[in-house]
Amino acid sequence: MPKPVLLLTRLLPPAIEARAARDYSVVNNPTDAPWYKDGTEIARRAEGASGILIAAGDPFNAATIAALPASVKVISTFSVGTDHIDLKAAAARGIMVTNTPDVLSFATAEIAFTLLLMAARRAGEGERMVRAGQWEGWAPTQLMGVTLQGKRLGILGYGRIGREMGVMAKGFGMELHYRNNRRLAPELENGAQYHDSDEGFLGAIDILSMHIPGGAATAKWLNATRIGQMRQGAIVINTGRGSTVDDEALIAALKTGRIRAAGLDVFDGEPRVNPGYLGLENVALLPHLGSATIETRDRMGNLALDNLDAVLLRGENPPALVG
Ligand code: DGY
Repeated sequence: MPKPVLLLTRLLPPAIEARAARDYSVVNNPTDAPWYKDGTEIARRAEGASGILIAAGDPFNAATIAALPASVKVISTFSVGTDHIDLKAAAARGIMVTNTPDVLSFATAEIAFTLLLMAARRAGEGERMVRAGQWEGWAPTQLMGVTLQGKRLGILGYGRIGREMGVMAKGFGMELHYRNNRRLAPELENGAQYHDSDEGFLGAIDILSMHIPGGAATAKWLNATRIGQMRQGAIVINTGRGSTVDDEALIAALKTGRIRAAGLDVFDGEPRVNPGYLGLENVALLPHLGSATIETRDRMGNLALDNLDAVLLRGENPPALVG
């Protein structure tokens, strides 16, 4: 039996590329850069492929999916998020979509916590000062941030990543609050207080950590109205999707100090970053590092291949079918 053809749209960790090459006839992008500009090119590259392994930055919109050859049975995304894929268009073509949940939760929570510490303790400002040769020595009032101990952390989206963030926050003596579309069972709450309204939630917390998916339902969730419902001097962290924040509203609030500081790992339209953030000292900016650990990227790659193997090598249901 000839091996099924698998299209890899990005360079993957070496162990994952090796595993893919063992079981598939691989057509791969040898670079880290997105490979194609529109559906026409991806369709040409996918000729004869049964599966396509894509990444979060590869926009599989309706036009791209419509242009795929009939041979494609499954799109396996190397991400938990699926907002870059038009799921309805894939379903209409009978193409399965799979993702990589769970395996990246701890690493993504680590980056959320990194940003929280950077924002609260002004670590980015301090680092820039030292690198610029502008540090003139220790001073009692220099770069004072706020301590996390005793602060109220509000977790928006208390799923797998949000709950890992909660466990870390408890270690810092923080009080947990959460807002979700439904209340969780008490054993999953980890002592966090559930809020059934956005306004009640936002008014109760000192720090907002956002872990909600992208897409139309969550677009610009954090807007001027909701910022107005937050406490004076609150902190905002976002490691979910950039589309969930109204950048102009957040930039305005960071400028006045209504929001003390922010930490962002994701951006609307990334890799473009709203230029309004770039000159602000009170925002920490990271290039979508959430899942970027050696261990996590291997786990994501293995799950992405497990999904493909189930469908293409064994004719079974994939372990992480979307929807
Ligand atoms: C995801 O998995 O959706 C991340 O945003 C990319 O690691």
